[in-house]
Amino acid sequence: MTTDTPAVELRHVSKAFGDLRVLDDVSLVVPAGRAICILGRSGTGKSVTLKHIVGLLQPDSGEVLVEGEDIAALRGADLARVRKRIGLLFQHAALFDSISVGENVAFPLRRHTKLPDDEIRARAEDLLAQVGLERNYDKMPADLSGGMQKRAGLARALVMKPAILLADEPSAGLDPITAGEIDQLLVALNDTAGTTLIVVTHNIPSARVLGDELVFLHEGRIIAQGDVASLDRSDVPLVQQFMKSDSSG
Ligand SMILES: Nc1ncnc2c1ncn2[C@@H]1O[C@H](COP(=O)(O)OP(=O)(O)OP(=O)(O)O)[C@@H](O)[C@H]1O
Ligand SMILES: [Mg+2]
Repeated sequence: MTTDTPAVELRHVSKAFGDLRVLDDVSLVVPAGRAICILGRSGTGKSVTLKHIVGLLQPDSGEVLVEGEDIAALRGADLARVRKRIGLLFQHAALFDSISVGENVAFPLRRHTKLPDDEIRARAEDLLAQVGLERNYDKMPADLSGGMQKRAGLARALVMKPAILLADEPSAGLDPITAGEIDQLLVALNDTAGTTLIVVTHNIPSARVLGDELVFLHEGRIIAQGDVASLDRSDVPLVQQFMKSDSSG
C-alpha cells in the first residue's frame, strides 16, 4: 500500500436518470499506474462510470476524485487542466466526421499545444502507426471500418500522452489478432509509461492480459473485485459465468 494520491477515486457515487438507478453507492480506488478492467452486463453503468471520471456526467451524491481533485467541482481552466491528464476512448469512437482521420488524432495537439504543424502531423502519424493505421491520415472517418474507427479513436485518446487512459471497449468489433495487438499496446503503455488504465471490456481474454484488477459491476454495485486468480475462484454465479466465457484461453 502506498500513500500516494490515487489516479482516480470514486467515493460513494450514486447516479440515477429519472427512475433508473444506474450507480448505487459505488466506491473504487485506482492507484496511479494500476490497470483496472471494468466488466458487467450490458446497461449496468460501465460507460456511465467512465463519463463520471472525465466529468461529462456528475454524481447525484458522492465524489469522483481525479488525482485528488473533485472533478465535478472544477470549471474552466481547472477542469481543462485535469482533463488534459486523461485520455478517453469512447465506446463508439466519436470521431469528428467532417475532418480527416489524421486531423482527428491531431486535434488535441492543435487545441492544447503550440507545436509546429509538421511536428503535430508527425506525432499524429506515429500514433496512427501504433494502432495499425499507417497510410490512413487523409481518409475520412466514414471511409474506415468500425474497428478502424475504434483504433483511430484510441490514437486520438493517446496523442496527449495522458497519465490516465479510459478506454470503453477498445477491442470491441476487432478480430482476435487486432484485438490482441491493441491489448499489447495498452500493456506496453502501462508497463513503460506507467499510464493508469481503466478499461471497460466484455472480452475476458483481454481482461486477463490487461487487468491487474478486475471490477464487476452489476445493478449499480460492485459485486466482485480482485485479480484474475481470485476471480477465477469466485463463487458469485455472474462472475463465474463471465470468467468461464474465456473460450480462447
Ligand atoms: N445520459 C443518459 N440519460 C439517460 N439514461 C442514460 C444516460 N446515459 C446512460 N443511461 C442509462 O444508464 C444505463 C447504463 O448505461 P451505460 O451506457 O453505462 O451501460 P454499459 O454498462 O456501458 O452497457 P454496454 O455494455 O451496453 O455498453 C442504461 O440503462 C442507459 O440507458
Ligand atoms: Mg457501455
